[in-house]
Amino acid sequence: MPSLTQRLGLRVPIVLAPMAGGISTPGLVAAVGNAGGLGSLGAAYLTPTQIREAGAAVRRLTRGPFAVNLFAPQSTSEPTAPQVERAVAELAPFHAALGLPPPALPPQASDDFEAQLDAALEVCPAVLSFTFGRLEARHLGALRVRGILAIGTATGLEEARQLEADGVDAIVVQGGAAGGHRGGWSEDELADTLTLTRAAAKNIRVPLIAAGGLMTAADVRAVLDAGASLAQCGTAFLRATEAGTSEPYRAALAAAKTGDTVLTRAFSGRTARGLRNAVTEGVQQPLPYPQQNALTRPLRAAGATAGRADVLSLWAGEGVESGRTGTAAEILESLWN
Ligand SMILES: Cc1cc2nc3c(=O)[nH]c(=O)nc-3n(C[C@H](O)[C@H](O)[C@H](O)COP(=O)(O)O)c2cc1C
Repeated sequence: MPSLTQRLGLRVPIVLAPMAGGISTPGLVAAVGNAGGLGSLGAAYLTPTQIREAGAAVRRLTRGPFAVNLFAPQSTSEPTAPQVERAVAELAPFHAALGLPPPALPPQASDDFEAQLDAALEVCPAVLSFTFGRLEARHLGALRVRGILAIGTATGLEEARQLEADGVDAIVVQGGAAGGHRGGWSEDELADTLTLTRAAAKNIRVPLIAAGGLMTAADVRAVLDAGASLAQCGTAFLRATEAGTSEPYRAALAAAKTGDTVLTRAFSGRTARGLRNAVTEGVQQPLPYPQQNALTRPLRAAGATAGRADVLSLWAGEGVESGRTGTAAEILESLWN
């Protein structure tokens, strides 16, 4: 049985984590692919048309394999009117400070997963990775017939077992240090990445991709030695030249110290790790995902334009202080050699 690295034709056993919200640009995805790793396009917030365009843009820049990443569909219930009122009231002062109209929940909060997946199938990447849950057998079947590898995300052993039973081709095991959203759907153990990788290597038969706090070549080596086939790094690439990270976000990352990250539901309604700021401190009663995500979108967009890191979702992992600038190829090199 060929290894995952062989199946994907990688020279470097490192995955650029998908980073939705414009960070994993086609340029960044392709640069990692051209340097021998696996780039991932964070496509969860893209429309089907944008997914097709971004996929074509990656293809123009690299002949290498890449992944497209989506959020698994969520079973959500509509928030009640008092819940919406409370969430709106908490965000109102932030809107006022930026001269924005008062926050309002748009009628359609969630993206259309089926249409996004159809667009991703058309792009036909080497890998379709997903987070926040499981895909249905028909989704996995559609990937299989096209030869697209399916990679799910687990935050603990039980979730990894469920993904394995579903028939995925590989599993991202996400430790608690990871930046961005927690990928799990059951109780999140916030596991130590190395400990989770070792436990999964003992119990799970499909290839593993370790993620969470991997910032140096020694970190990458340690998870490979613990049984992972690949290492997935997000925060390490946030300040790459090719990343779509906004200027205020870059400045906040450059100044960040170990211990500056918090777990918060303030921006999206789902737990995610990022740098502490006015919104993570001020918002205590967010709506569930995806409504809170839709509610905070105008604030985040205005904050990026106005250079206001205090209102942006500054996703970052616990290793943020070890982050560096440079091209994606230089950063990949520093994680491997
Ligand atoms: C800015 C940012 C955005 C992220 N967006 C996604 C995403 O869209 N899909 C996904 O599966 N994981 C996403 N993640 C999580 C990563 O896949 C990965 O688990 C994490 O970056 C690993 O931890 P590290 O940041 O310490 O390297 C994101 C992480 C960051 C930092």
